[in-house]
Amino acid sequence: MRAPTQQIRFAPLFAVAAVTLMVLSAGGCARQRQTRVQVADSGRGGQLFAKNCLPCHGASPDAARIGPSLVNEGQRRSYAEIVRAIEAPDPPMPKLFPGTLTSQDVADIAAYVKNL
Ligand code: HEC
Repeated sequence: MRAPTQQIRFAPLFAVAAVTLMVLSAGGCARQRQTRVQVADSGRGGQLFAKNCLPCHGASPDAARIGPSLVNEGQRRSYAEIVRAIEAPDPPMPKLFPGTLTSQDVADIAAYVKNL
């Protein structure tokens, strides 16, 4: 009785191979997505926002408030629309990308603004 023993021994190996393939193909998709949009880090975005955006978009009444408050902006606009607002702003908002901000910075800030 050799065959049944071999089957039992190889069955878990197949399972491991199948799971490995699934993980690898999922990882491939994630990597593809990353090259298009980047994985955004809203914590880093918050720091960049404080430095580059808050002087104009601050929520406190005594702030300069050159621009509108962005609180609840994430309910009015999609993530992609926020990215577009930063990359191709309406005057008088300054164009900070590219130059001051990298595309990773824009992605991180947009992720932060989306949750304000
Ligand atoms: C020099 C001031 C200034 C700075 C700095 C600035 N903005 Fe603005 N922003 C404005 C003004 C003014 C508007 C309104 C433009 C208009 O009249 O449509 C605006 C509009 C926007 C809007 C669209 C708001 C809406 O609902 O119409 C978004 C989103 C935005 N800014 C995000 C940002 C982010 C994120 C940053 C930082 C990377 C930033 N802004 C930096 C002045 C600024």
